[in-house]
Amino acid sequence: MAIRSIAVINPKGGSGKTTIATSLAAHLCFEGFQPALLDLDPQCSASDWLAQRPADLTPVGQAQAVYKNEILKKVRLPKACDALIIDTPAGLAEHNLKLVLKQAQSIIIPLVPSPIDMRAAWRFLQQLVAMKAIVKGKNKVALVANRCKTRTMIFRELTGFMDGYRFPVIARLRETQNYIRAAEGGMGISELPSWQAWQDWEEWEPLMHWLKSSDSTP
Ligand SMILES: Nc1ncnc2c1ncn2[C@@H]1O[C@H](COP(=O)(O)OP(=O)(O)OP(=O)(O)O)[C@@H](O)[C@H]1O
Ligand SMILES: [Mg+2]
Repeated sequence: MAIRSIAVINPKGGSGKTTIATSLAAHLCFEGFQPALLDLDPQCSASDWLAQRPADLTPVGQAQAVYKNEILKKVRLPKACDALIIDTPAGLAEHNLKLVLKQAQSIIIPLVPSPIDMRAAWRFLQQLVAMKAIVKGKNKVALVANRCKTRTMIFRELTGFMDGYRFPVIARLRETQNYIRAAEGGMGISELPSWQAWQDWEEWEPLMHWLKSSDSTP
């Protein structure tokens, strides 16, 4: 059986890839999966998160990338693993983007409401919609609005921008210190107490719903 595989991609730095990848790992633990994270970023933020993860929480494994001449050749999974989450770096090179697409069924693209980020995202999404794997439906792509401040003009612009694509918008995540607190402790948002993070739990529901639906797999 092919394992569940999800990549979080946006070549623009700071859009929330690692935040979403790590919180997703925690969510999958809660759903009964044995997830592993593949950290393709030389900054190693996802690996740092793994190192911080408390021993009393469900463990998240670490997958290893095998490179040849800086090109991703294959992925080594830990023994017990039924879900792979790939955290990609800013500025992911096109050849590695293609290889990541080969490894992942579902692609989550976090977008932040900021003019500079949206321009960069536009270029990336233009590149993505033209890629063979996407055209042929070999990867299922979804957008996540991250760091949302819903009553702002720029959030409305981001909403309009996202609606311009055929990719579904599967979640709108608010800007909150909860993500920073959770990440510092090697946790996901689902592992913070409900009094603190209930709103964020609710915001993650449609994202998890999409990942569990057949819409997210080829
Ligand atoms: N919804 C959010 N609310 C508040 N802070 C957030 C949110 N999402 C991300 N952040 C913060 O924004 C910063 C950038 O997020 P993150 O590291 O996840 O982005 P990234 O896309 O992985 O960046 P890079 O491209 O450098 O790898 C971090 O400090 C993170 O804690
Ligand atoms: Mg990152």
